[in-house]
Amino acid sequence: MQKNNQGSKVILPPGTIGIIGGGQLGRMMAVAAKQMGYQIVVLDPTPNCPTAQLADQQITAAYDDMDAIKQLAECSDVVTYEFENVDLEAAAYMEQQGKLPQGAFALEVTQNREREKKIMREADLPIPNFSIVTNGRACEDALKHISFPSVIKTCSGGYDGKGQIKIRAEEDAKEAIHFAEQNEHCIIEEWVSFDKEISVIFTRSQSGEITFFPIAENDHKEHILYQTTVPASVSEIVKEKAIHAAGVLANQMNIVGTFAIEMFVKDETVYLNEMAPRLITQAIIR
Ligand SMILES: Nc1ncnc2c1ncn2[C@@H]1O[C@H](COP(=O)(O)OP(=O)(O)O)[C@@H](O)[C@H]1O
Ligand SMILES: [Mg+2]
Repeated sequence: MQKNNQGSKVILPPGTIGIIGGGQLGRMMAVAAKQMGYQIVVLDPTPNCPTAQLADQQITAAYDDMDAIKQLAECSDVVTYEFENVDLEAAAYMEQQGKLPQGAFALEVTQNREREKKIMREADLPIPNFSIVTNGRACEDALKHISFPSVIKTCSGGYDGKGQIKIRAEEDAKEAIHFAEQNEHCIIEEWVSFDKEISVIFTRSQSGEITFFPIAENDHKEHILYQTTVPASVSEIVKEKAIHAAGVLANQMNIVGTFAIEMFVKDETVYLNEMAPRLITQAIIR
């Protein structure tokens, strides 16, 4: 898949924005879009999902239902998606139709922790040591070379801490090996005993202009985001490093739209954790 973006065009109200995924992020976008006079069509399998409560129309179907995807393309001037586990084929179709300005590439990368880490490594940015394992034996070998504590995660499909287990010490190795046997494509990462978790959210336009939002500081409980404080209380050096890392990745991946990058801060070093596409509107309609 290419890093190509769609041709630039300005969509004015009352244009229609299609959103794949109707959760809380889609809902927040719908609030802003409706205030600006846009119309919203949302595709989500759950009737009356949070976004649908504010949208002009809901297409109630699975994210990979191609008939529903075609229907969404037909009634939208531009389409975006709300989370990274959207069906890749559906996104590629939207791109072919000229409806998805950010293209499917960022989605393809962020759906897979191995691809994500490869991009981060190519960009020469600090990341926790990791190993990709595709079976129990490989996991056993990898654990000999990685220090404890560490964490094993599925390479795709995880969110809110689902699809990962912490390996506190050697005693947990058996559980990790079992996890690797069951999930086939996993990543084992060294645990970063971070001082803080932060995220950099930015919007990049089709011409490559980047606007950074103030850096956010995130507290998780049970692997689920509990509280975000903005701006993060981090030093100027950490801010610079975080913004630099986000800018490098944004340009390297030719991101269009709004994007979030999660990072761990330890002793003024900023390690990249994972990234997630957000919504497109600002980049496309401004
Ligand atoms: N290598 C790591 N070192 C320290 N903490 C981690 C590590 N990997 C994950 N975590 C913790 O688990 C949370 C969820 O992991 P993450 O990789 O962001 O997956 P997701 O958000 O997709 O569930 C992180 O926000 C962080 O608190
Ligand atoms: Mg995360």
